[in-house]
Amino acid sequence: MGRDQLRQSMTAREIFELVHEDLELVEREIARESTASVATVTDIGRYLQSSGGKRLRPMLVLLAARLVGRADELALRLATVVEMIHTATLVHDDVIDVAETRRGKPSTNIIWGNHTCVLAGDWLYMQAFQVALRLRNFQFLDILIALTQLMVEGELIQLERLGRIDITQAEYEELIDRKTASLFSACARLGALAGGGDEATESRLAEFGWHLGMAFQLVDDVLDFTSREAVLGKPVGNDLREGKVTLPLIYALEAAAPEERRMVETVLRDNSYERVPFSRILDFVERRNGIERALARAQIFTEQARSIIGSFPASPAQRALAAVVELVIDRDH
Ligand code: IPE
Ligand code: IPE
Ligand code: MG
Ligand code: MG
Repeated sequence: MGRDQLRQSMTAREIFELVHEDLELVEREIARESTASVATVTDIGRYLQSSGGKRLRPMLVLLAARLVGRADELALRLATVVEMIHTATLVHDDVIDVAETRRGKPSTNIIWGNHTCVLAGDWLYMQAFQVALRLRNFQFLDILIALTQLMVEGELIQLERLGRIDITQAEYEELIDRKTASLFSACARLGALAGGGDEATESRLAEFGWHLGMAFQLVDDVLDFTSREAVLGKPVGNDLREGKVTLPLIYALEAAAPEERRMVETVLRDNSYERVPFSRILDFVERRNGIERALARAQIFTEQARSIIGSFPASPAQRALAAVVELVIDRDH
């Protein structure tokens, strides 16, 4: 992005100002819709909602709707639905990943245990669909069901590839496409539909969301190496410890010396940094340009996203979506 464009682009605060009233309504709706007749489910929902989170997905729905037309009641409902789906996936994801921290606090599986979290996650998923069903629109349900299945497939493929040091870039990207980009794409698509966009607009926005989602996960996987727990809200070095070989490491391994490769194998075998400290892995990934190359790959996706959004007529929502792209690539958490 050129310097002038940069100066013109919105700050995070300006984007927030554009959607914060709508987001507040979404928050209220999420709270109202996450009340179950079993207190544990309500507690888990509240716990996650009050722990923070960027609300990027509902923001995407609302801004896409505004870009095309306006963010009315329908867009608000859909924004609620996608954040509830996201929450449900986090509850399940932390069980699957045996995670200990989420949004800077002990993750729900640590507090309530796996059995409860599997069921609470199911309840939250179904509740999201309940909210969507009330809209009486098969197209929304179609998108949401296909998207949920893609995300589950992504998590399953990831599980199957866990601990594999020889995972390729293509395999990695196939996986993040499903587990993350599919939801971002659906958010932008749903927003376009809610705003009254035609089919071509809907597809363009879905493409935009997909590229944004790919970049988002790539940056997330870079931050797993370069950030700090206090900023990130989850421990660094987590992916490799969980057995996930992500793109920075895939790139670094391409140029690895045999002893560097053995180091990675040791962490994958141990599922811990007891024998090989994380700092040595980070040194290696940096030395072999893994971080730099993965960020360059993320830039390719954000360039696409930028160019799609740049093809829409200028408006506050258009500038905000362009700024979201910059936020995703420059984010530190
Ligand atoms: C976490 O998503 C899951 C990933 C796709 C990496 P976010 O980083 O958007 O999570 P919150 O909602 O802001 O906590
Ligand atoms: C989360 O994936 C994406 C989902 C589909 C839930 P990760 O397991 O990579 O994300 P974090 O690191 O737990 O947030
Ligand atoms: Mg996880
Ligand atoms: Mg996971």
